[in-house]
Amino acid sequence: MTFRARHLLGIEQLTPEDIRAVLDLSDRYVELSRRTIKHSDALAGMTQINMFFEASTRTQSSFELAGKRLGADVMNMSVAHSSVKKGETLIDTALTLNAMHPDLLVVRHPASGAVNLLAEKVNCAVLNAGDGRHEHPTQALLDALTIRRAKGRIQRLTVAICGDIAHSRVARSNLILLGKMENRIRLIGPPTLMPTGVAEFGCEVHDDMAAGLEGADVVMMLRLQKERMDGGFIPSEREYYHRYGLDAEKLANAKPDAIVMHPGPMNRGVEIDGELADDINRSVIQDQVEMGVAVRMACMDLLAQNLRAERGRAATGGLYA
Ligand code: NCD
Repeated sequence: MTFRARHLLGIEQLTPEDIRAVLDLSDRYVELSRRTIKHSDALAGMTQINMFFEASTRTQSSFELAGKRLGADVMNMSVAHSSVKKGETLIDTALTLNAMHPDLLVVRHPASGAVNLLAEKVNCAVLNAGDGRHEHPTQALLDALTIRRAKGRIQRLTVAICGDIAHSRVARSNLILLGKMENRIRLIGPPTLMPTGVAEFGCEVHDDMAAGLEGADVVMMLRLQKERMDGGFIPSEREYYHRYGLDAEKLANAKPDAIVMHPGPMNRGVEIDGELADDINRSVIQDQVEMGVAVRMACMDLLAQNLRAERGRAATGGLYA
Protein backbone atom coordinates (compact mmCIF):
# COMPACT_ATOMS: atom_id res chain seq x y z
CA MET A 1 0.00 0.00 0.00
CA THR A 2 1.24 3.47 -0.80
CA PHE A 3 1.09 6.63 1.30
CA ARG A 4 0.27 5.04 4.64
CA ALA A 5 1.57 7.91 6.81
CA ARG A 6 -0.40 9.72 9.51
CA HIS A 7 1.24 13.11 8.71
CA LEU A 8 2.84 14.88 5.79
CA LEU A 9 5.92 16.42 7.40
CA GLY A 10 8.47 16.23 4.61
CA ILE A 11 9.46 14.65 1.31
CA GLU A 12 12.15 12.78 3.24
CA GLN A 13 9.55 10.29 4.54
CA LEU A 14 7.98 9.55 1.12
CA THR A 15 8.90 6.73 -1.26
CA PRO A 16 8.90 7.21 -5.05
CA GLU A 17 5.63 5.19 -5.08
CA ASP A 18 4.08 7.57 -2.53
CA ILE A 19 5.10 10.53 -4.69
CA ARG A 20 3.60 8.93 -7.80
CA ALA A 21 0.38 8.18 -5.92
CA VAL A 22 0.04 11.85 -4.88
CA LEU A 23 0.75 13.08 -8.42
CA ASP A 24 -1.72 10.64 -10.02
CA LEU A 25 -4.50 11.66 -7.65
CA SER A 26 -3.56 15.34 -8.12
CA ASP A 27 -4.09 15.02 -11.88
CA ARG A 28 -7.67 13.99 -11.15
CA TYR A 29 -8.12 16.97 -8.83
CA VAL A 30 -6.81 19.30 -11.54
CA GLU A 31 -9.69 18.09 -13.73
CA LEU A 32 -12.22 18.53 -10.93
CA SER A 33 -10.93 22.05 -10.20
CA ARG A 34 -11.46 23.07 -13.83
CA ARG A 35 -15.17 22.24 -13.68
CA THR A 36 -17.81 24.77 -12.71
CA ILE A 37 -18.90 22.56 -9.82
CA LYS A 38 -15.65 21.73 -8.03
CA HIS A 39 -16.94 19.68 -5.15
CA SER A 40 -16.05 16.28 -3.78
CA ASP A 41 -16.94 14.89 -0.37
CA ALA A 42 -13.56 13.35 0.47
CA LEU A 43 -13.34 15.42 3.66
CA ALA A 44 -17.07 15.80 4.33
CA GLY A 45 -17.71 16.26 8.03
CA MET A 46 -14.03 16.72 8.82
CA THR A 47 -12.51 19.82 10.40
CA GLN A 48 -9.37 21.44 9.01
CA ILE A 49 -7.50 24.14 10.89
CA ASN A 50 -4.86 26.27 9.17
CA MET A 51 -2.27 27.76 11.53
CA PHE A 52 0.13 30.08 9.74
CA PHE A 53 2.79 31.64 11.94
CA GLU A 54 4.49 33.16 8.88
CA ALA A 55 3.19 35.26 6.01
CA SER A 56 1.63 33.38 3.11
CA THR A 57 -0.55 34.07 0.08
CA ARG A 58 -0.47 31.03 -2.20
CA THR A 59 0.02 28.28 0.35
CA GLN A 60 -2.62 29.36 2.85
CA SER A 61 -5.26 30.26 0.28
CA SER A 62 -4.73 27.04 -1.64
CA PHE A 63 -4.95 24.89 1.50
CA GLU A 64 -8.17 26.70 2.36
CA LEU A 65 -9.65 26.25 -1.12
CA ALA A 66 -8.49 22.63 -1.25
CA GLY A 67 -10.23 21.85 2.05
CA LYS A 68 -13.43 23.59 0.96
CA ARG A 69 -13.50 21.80 -2.39
CA LEU A 70 -13.25 18.51 -0.50
CA GLY A 71 -16.14 19.44 1.76
CA ALA A 72 -14.25 20.03 5.03
CA ASP A 73 -15.12 22.68 7.60
CA VAL A 74 -12.10 24.94 7.30
CA MET A 75 -10.95 27.42 9.92
CA ASN A 76 -8.05 29.81 9.48
CA MET A 77 -6.53 30.67 12.82
CA SER A 78 -5.50 34.28 12.74
CA VAL A 79 -2.15 34.12 14.50
CA ALA A 80 -1.76 37.90 14.51
CA HIS A 81 -4.87 38.17 16.71
CA SER A 82 -4.36 35.00 18.75
CA SER A 83 -2.97 34.25 22.20
CA VAL A 84 0.39 33.64 20.55
CA LYS A 85 0.74 37.39 20.84
CA LYS A 86 0.14 37.04 24.58
CA GLY A 87 3.05 34.62 24.93
CA GLU A 88 1.32 31.26 24.52
CA THR A 89 3.77 28.63 23.28
CA LEU A 90 3.30 26.77 20.02
CA ILE A 91 2.60 23.53 21.87
CA ASP A 92 -0.04 25.12 24.16
CA THR A 93 -1.73 26.65 21.14
CA ALA A 94 -1.67 23.29 19.38
CA LEU A 95 -3.05 21.44 22.41
CA THR A 96 -5.84 24.01 22.73
CA LEU A 97 -6.84 23.50 19.12
CA ASN A 98 -6.42 19.73 19.47
CA ALA A 99 -9.07 19.75 22.19
CA MET A 100 -11.56 21.00 19.58
CA HIS A 101 -11.04 17.74 17.61
CA PRO A 102 -9.68 18.91 14.28
CA ASP A 103 -8.93 16.14 11.79
CA LEU A 104 -6.33 18.01 9.76
CA LEU A 105 -3.94 20.64 11.03
CA VAL A 106 -2.00 22.65 8.42
CA VAL A 107 0.97 24.43 9.98
CA ARG A 108 3.55 26.94 8.80
CA HIS A 109 6.18 28.04 11.30
CA PRO A 110 9.46 30.00 11.11
CA ALA A 111 11.38 27.42 13.18
CA SER A 112 12.78 24.33 11.44
CA GLY A 113 11.43 21.22 13.16
CA ALA A 114 8.52 23.00 14.88
CA VAL A 115 5.90 21.18 12.79
CA ASN A 116 7.41 17.74 13.55
CA LEU A 117 7.38 18.56 17.27
CA LEU A 118 3.75 19.63 17.09
CA ALA A 119 2.77 16.47 15.23
CA GLU A 120 3.89 14.41 18.23
CA LYS A 121 1.46 16.24 20.53
CA VAL A 122 -1.82 16.07 18.62
CA ASN A 123 -4.04 13.21 17.50
CA CYS A 124 -4.96 14.41 14.04
CA ALA A 125 -3.13 14.53 10.72
CA VAL A 126 -0.55 17.33 10.48
CA LEU A 127 0.56 18.83 7.17
CA ASN A 128 3.74 20.85 7.03
CA ALA A 129 3.12 24.05 5.06
CA GLY A 130 6.75 25.14 5.50
CA ASP A 131 8.96 25.06 8.61
CA GLY A 132 11.92 27.43 8.67
CA ARG A 133 14.50 26.38 6.14
CA HIS A 134 13.71 22.68 6.64
CA GLU A 135 10.90 21.37 4.38
CA HIS A 136 7.91 22.50 2.31
CA PRO A 137 6.62 19.16 1.00
CA THR A 138 3.48 20.31 -0.81
CA GLN A 139 5.56 22.88 -2.74
CA ALA A 140 7.93 20.17 -3.99
CA LEU A 141 4.95 17.97 -4.92
CA LEU A 142 3.21 20.76 -6.82
CA ASP A 143 6.49 21.56 -8.59
CA ALA A 144 6.83 17.87 -9.52
CA LEU A 145 3.26 17.82 -10.86
CA THR A 146 3.92 20.97 -12.90
CA ILE A 147 7.11 19.45 -14.34
CA ARG A 148 5.47 16.09 -15.07
CA ARG A 149 2.59 17.74 -16.93
CA ALA A 150 4.91 20.05 -18.93
CA LYS A 151 7.63 17.49 -19.72
CA GLY A 152 5.62 14.25 -19.71
CA ARG A 153 7.86 12.71 -17.04
CA ILE A 154 9.51 13.37 -13.69
CA GLN A 155 12.66 11.26 -14.23
CA ARG A 156 15.94 11.76 -16.06
CA LEU A 157 15.56 15.52 -16.37
CA THR A 158 18.23 18.13 -15.76
CA VAL A 159 16.84 20.58 -13.23
CA ALA A 160 18.69 23.77 -12.31
CA ILE A 161 17.74 25.28 -8.94
CA CYS A 162 19.02 28.85 -8.81
CA GLY A 163 19.56 31.54 -6.21
CA ASP A 164 19.25 31.53 -2.44
CA ILE A 165 19.62 27.80 -1.84
CA ALA A 166 20.91 28.17 1.73
CA HIS A 167 17.76 29.71 3.18
CA SER A 168 15.23 27.84 1.07
CA ARG A 169 12.99 25.03 2.28
CA VAL A 170 11.60 24.94 -1.27
CA ALA A 171 15.07 24.05 -2.60
CA ARG A 172 15.56 21.46 0.13
CA SER A 173 12.27 19.64 -0.47
CA ASN A 174 12.77 19.80 -4.24
CA LEU A 175 16.31 18.44 -3.95
CA ILE A 176 15.04 15.46 -1.99
CA LEU A 177 12.09 14.78 -4.29
CA LEU A 178 13.97 15.23 -7.57
CA GLY A 179 16.78 13.05 -6.23
CA LYS A 180 14.36 10.27 -5.25
CA MET A 181 12.90 10.38 -8.76
CA GLU A 182 16.38 10.08 -10.33
CA ASN A 183 16.85 13.47 -11.92
CA ARG A 184 20.08 15.35 -12.46
CA ILE A 185 20.20 18.40 -10.23
CA ARG A 186 22.35 21.50 -10.58
CA LEU A 187 22.50 24.11 -7.85
CA ILE A 188 23.42 27.59 -9.06
CA GLY A 189 24.11 30.63 -6.90
CA PRO A 190 26.78 32.69 -5.18
CA PRO A 191 28.89 30.66 -2.73
CA THR A 192 27.51 32.81 0.15
CA LEU A 193 24.01 31.48 -0.61
CA MET A 194 25.01 27.79 -0.78
CA PRO A 195 24.36 25.68 2.32
CA THR A 196 27.35 24.28 4.16
CA GLY A 197 28.16 20.71 3.18
CA VAL A 198 26.60 21.21 -0.26
CA ALA A 199 29.32 19.02 -1.82
CA GLU A 200 27.77 15.99 -0.08
CA PHE A 201 24.34 16.48 -1.70
CA GLY A 202 25.45 14.58 -4.79
CA CYS A 203 24.53 17.34 -7.23
CA GLU A 204 26.56 19.70 -9.37
CA VAL A 205 27.20 23.13 -7.87
CA HIS A 206 27.82 26.22 -10.03
CA ASP A 207 28.38 29.87 -9.28
CA ASP A 208 28.05 30.86 -12.93
CA MET A 209 24.55 30.93 -14.47
CA ALA A 210 25.65 30.29 -18.08
CA ALA A 211 27.57 27.14 -17.18
CA GLY A 212 24.95 25.92 -14.72
CA LEU A 213 22.01 26.35 -17.11
CA GLU A 214 23.69 24.56 -20.02
CA GLY A 215 21.29 21.89 -21.29
CA ALA A 216 18.76 22.28 -18.43
CA ASP A 217 15.18 21.05 -18.99
CA VAL A 218 13.81 22.94 -15.98
CA VAL A 219 14.99 26.23 -14.46
CA MET A 220 13.69 26.77 -10.96
CA MET A 221 14.28 30.27 -9.54
CA LEU A 222 14.16 31.09 -5.84
CA ARG A 223 13.38 34.26 -3.93
CA LEU A 224 16.13 35.97 -1.97
CA GLN A 225 14.93 35.09 1.55
CA LYS A 226 15.93 38.35 3.16
CA GLU A 227 13.94 37.59 6.30
CA ARG A 228 16.34 34.71 7.00
CA MET A 229 19.51 36.69 6.34
CA ASP A 230 21.29 38.41 9.17
CA GLY A 231 24.02 40.14 7.22
CA GLY A 232 25.46 40.92 3.81
CA PHE A 233 25.01 37.79 1.73
CA ILE A 234 25.00 39.73 -1.54
CA PRO A 235 26.77 42.97 -2.51
CA SER A 236 23.57 44.63 -3.82
CA GLU A 237 20.33 43.57 -5.51
CA ARG A 238 21.50 45.21 -8.72
CA GLU A 239 24.70 43.23 -8.75
CA TYR A 240 22.77 40.05 -7.86
CA TYR A 241 20.36 40.56 -10.77
CA HIS A 242 23.25 41.14 -13.13
CA ARG A 243 24.91 37.82 -12.19
CA TYR A 244 22.03 35.58 -11.12
CA GLY A 245 18.78 37.18 -12.25
CA LEU A 246 17.12 35.05 -14.94
CA ASP A 247 16.41 36.86 -18.21
CA ALA A 248 15.99 35.68 -21.80
CA GLU A 249 19.70 35.96 -22.47
CA LYS A 250 20.76 33.71 -19.61
CA LEU A 251 17.88 31.31 -20.31
CA ALA A 252 19.28 30.83 -23.84
CA ASN A 253 21.93 28.58 -22.24
CA ALA A 254 19.25 26.06 -21.23
CA LYS A 255 17.45 23.73 -23.66
CA PRO A 256 15.24 25.61 -26.17
CA ASP A 257 12.13 24.09 -24.56
CA ALA A 258 13.25 24.59 -20.95
CA ILE A 259 10.50 25.71 -18.59
CA VAL A 260 10.88 28.50 -16.02
CA MET A 261 9.52 28.06 -12.49
CA HIS A 262 9.28 30.21 -9.35
CA PRO A 263 7.42 29.29 -6.13
CA GLY A 264 6.43 32.91 -5.49
CA PRO A 265 6.39 35.48 -4.13
CA MET A 266 8.64 36.88 -6.87
CA ASN A 267 10.92 39.87 -6.69
CA ARG A 268 10.77 41.05 -10.27
CA GLY A 269 14.07 42.54 -11.37
CA VAL A 270 15.93 40.85 -8.50
CA GLU A 271 15.87 37.12 -9.22
CA ILE A 272 13.84 37.13 -12.43
CA ASP A 273 13.03 39.47 -15.30
CA GLY A 274 9.36 40.51 -15.14
CA GLU A 275 8.71 39.95 -18.84
CA LEU A 276 10.17 36.44 -18.77
CA ALA A 277 8.08 35.58 -15.71
CA ASP A 278 4.96 36.55 -17.70
CA ASP A 279 5.98 34.78 -20.93
CA ILE A 280 3.45 31.97 -21.22
CA ASN A 281 5.68 30.16 -23.73
CA ARG A 282 8.42 29.67 -21.14
CA SER A 283 7.06 30.38 -17.67
CA VAL A 284 4.87 27.87 -15.82
CA ILE A 285 4.59 30.04 -12.70
CA GLN A 286 0.80 30.35 -12.92
CA ASP A 287 0.51 26.59 -13.57
CA GLN A 288 2.39 26.03 -10.32
CA VAL A 289 -0.31 27.97 -8.49
CA GLU A 290 -3.07 25.92 -10.15
CA MET A 291 -1.26 22.65 -9.35
CA GLY A 292 -0.89 23.79 -5.75
CA VAL A 293 -4.61 23.50 -5.06
CA ALA A 294 -4.85 20.06 -6.70
CA VAL A 295 -1.80 18.68 -4.87
CA ARG A 296 -3.12 19.89 -1.51
CA MET A 297 -6.49 18.27 -2.27
CA ALA A 298 -4.72 14.99 -3.07
CA CYS A 299 -2.54 15.09 0.06
CA MET A 300 -5.47 15.82 2.35
CA ASP A 301 -7.65 13.18 0.67
CA LEU A 302 -4.92 10.53 1.19
CA LEU A 303 -4.29 11.54 4.81
CA ALA A 304 -8.02 11.55 5.53
CA GLN A 305 -8.31 8.00 4.16
CA ASN A 306 -5.52 6.91 6.50
CA LEU A 307 -7.14 8.68 9.42
CA ARG A 308 -10.47 6.95 8.79
CA ALA A 309 -8.75 3.58 8.51
CA GLU A 310 -6.90 4.24 11.76
CA ARG A 311 -10.01 5.29 13.65
CA GLY A 312 -12.23 2.57 12.27
CA ARG A 313 -15.26 3.27 10.18
CA ALA A 314 -16.44 6.79 10.87
CA ALA A 315 -20.00 7.21 12.06
CA THR A 316 -22.32 8.06 9.23
CA GLY A 317 -25.48 10.07 9.33
CA GLY A 318 -26.66 12.18 12.26
CA LEU A 319 -25.96 11.64 15.92
CA TYR A 320 -29.04 9.47 16.38
CA ALA A 321 -28.74 7.57 13.09
C1 NCD B 1 7.88 29.81 -0.44
C2 NCD B 1 7.96 29.59 1.06
O1 NCD B 1 7.21 30.17 1.82
O2 NCD B 1 8.81 28.80 1.42
N1 NCD B 1 6.70 30.33 -0.91
C3 NCD B 1 5.65 29.50 -1.12
O3 NCD B 1 5.25 28.74 -0.29
N2 NCD B 1 5.09 29.56 -2.34
C4 NCD B 1 9.07 30.49 -0.98
C5 NCD B 1 9.37 31.87 -0.54
O4 NCD B 1 8.81 32.41 0.41
O5 NCD B 1 10.24 32.47 -1.20
